[in-house]
Amino acid sequence: MKKIALLIAAVAWAGTASAAFSPTSVVGSSHDLSATGKDVQGKAGQAQNQVCIYCHMPHNANNVGAPLWNRSNSTTTFQMYSQANSSTFVLDAADTNTAARPVGPVSLACLSCHDGVTAFNSLNQTPMIDSDNNISASSYTFASGGAPVVTMQDASPSNTAGTANLTTDLTNDHPISFTYDTSLATLKGTTLRDPAVAASADLLQPLVIYRAGGTSGSIAQQMLFVNPAANKSNQLECASCHEPHMQGDLASAASNYPFLIKSNQNSNLCLTCHNK
Ligand code: HEC
Ligand code: HEC
Ligand code: HEC
Ligand code: HEC
Repeated sequence: MKKIALLIAAVAWAGTASAAFSPTSVVGSSHDLSATGKDVQGKAGQAQNQVCIYCHMPHNANNVGAPLWNRSNSTTTFQMYSQANSSTFVLDAADTNTAARPVGPVSLACLSCHDGVTAFNSLNQTPMIDSDNNISASSYTFASGGAPVVTMQDASPSNTAGTANLTTDLTNDHPISFTYDTSLATLKGTTLRDPAVAASADLLQPLVIYRAGGTSGSIAQQMLFVNPAANKSNQLECASCHEPHMQGDLASAASNYPFLIKSNQNSNLCLTCHNK
C-alpha cells in the first residue's frame, strides 16, 4: 500500500524544483492546470507558478480524496458497475453492498474533475504566495483552446477518439471501488490473479518510475489502495491503472498514454490482473 507520508516530502521538494520537462512529471501535461499547462489551463496570472496546487495543498487539506487533497470532491451520486450491468461481476464478501457502494476516496479525487459536473475551480484554498495571494478560488477561470470552460463537459479532449468526461454513470466504466483480494481471486478461479502474491517482474513492469519499486512486489502493493474512512484495504481505484503525475499525452509518452501506470501494448495492463 502506498505511503501517504511520501506526499509531505514530495510537496516540499516540488517547491524548489525547476519546471523542467520530463515524461514522468506532471509539469506541462494535461494535468497541469497552470497557465503553462496543456489542454485546460488557468488564465495567465492565476497561480501560474504552481502545478500541484490544483490538486494538493500542504496544509489544511481536504481529508477526503487523495492525500493532502485541495479540491472539493464531487457531491453527485454515481451509478456503480455492479451485477446489474454484468452477469459475471462478483464482489468479495466485504463488498456485498454492490450497486450502492460509494466511490472510494482516490477515485472521487479523479472524478472531482472527470465527472463532468464538478467545476475545475472547486478548490479548497488558493496559494498564499505568488500572484494569487488572497484571491478566492471561486474567481478562478479556465480555458481550453482559448474558449472558457467550467467543467470537463465543456472541455474538448486532446484524444479525439474519446472524451475525458466519464459522467456520473460509471456502469459503463471498468469497475472501481471494491475489494480485490485473495478471496475474490479464489472466487474467480484461475481467471483473476491473486493480488497478494508477489508478481514476477515481467508482470508488473514497466510501471512508471514515479512509483518507486514499481517492478517488484505484488499487485496489492503496487496497484491497490486503502479507503481509511470505510476501513478497507486492497481497493481497486482509478489510480490502480492510471498514474496522474506524468505527461500522459500521445505525443510525449506514447506507451503510457493516457496516463497509464504501465504500457497497455498487447493488453499488458489488463493481463497484469486478468489471466485470460
Ligand atoms: C490533476 C491532479 C493532480 C496534480 C496536479 C498533482 N497530483 Fe499528486 N495525486 C493526485 C491523485 C489523484 C493522487 C492519488 C492517487 C495516486 O496516488 O496516484 C495523488 C497522490 C500524490 C502523492 C501520494 C502518492 C504517491 O504517489 O506517492 C504524492 C506524493 C503526490 N501526489 C505529489 C504531487 C506533487 C508533488 C504534485 C505537483 C508536482 C502533484 N502531486 C500534482 C492528483 C494530482
Ligand atoms: C484538477 C482536475 C483533474 C483531476 C483531479 C484529474 N484530472 Fe485527469 N484530466 C484533467 C484534464 C483537464 C485533462 C485534459 C482533458 C482534455 O484533454 O480535454 C485530463 C486528462 C486525463 C486523461 C487523458 C484523457 C485524454 O483523452 O487525453 C486521463 C486518462 C485522466 N485525465 C485520468 C485521470 C485520473 C485517473 C485521475 C485521478 C487519479 C485524474 N485524471 C484526475 C483534469 C483532472
Ligand atoms: C482497470 C484499469 C482502469 C481503471 C480502473 C480506470 N481506467 Fe481509465 N483507462 C484505462 C485504459 C486502459 C484507458 C485507455 C483505453 C484506450 O486504449 O483507449 C483508459 C482511458 C481513460 C480516459 C480517456 C478516455 C477517453 O475516451 O479519452 C480517461 C479520462 C480515464 N481513463 C479516466 C479514468 C478514471 C477517472 C477512472 C476512475 C473512475 C479510470 N479511468 C479507471 C484503464 C482504466
Ligand atoms: C489492477 C487489476 C486490474 C486491471 C489492471 C484490470 N482489471 Fe479488469 N477487473 C479486475 C477485477 C478485480 C475485476 C472484478 C472481477 C470480477 O468480479 O469479475 C475486474 C473486472 C473486469 C471486467 C468485468 C467482468 C465482469 O464479470 O463483469 C472486465 C470486462 C474487465 N475487468 C476487463 C479489463 C480490461 C479490458 C482491462 C485492461 C484495460 C482490465 N480489466 C484491467 C482487475 C483488473
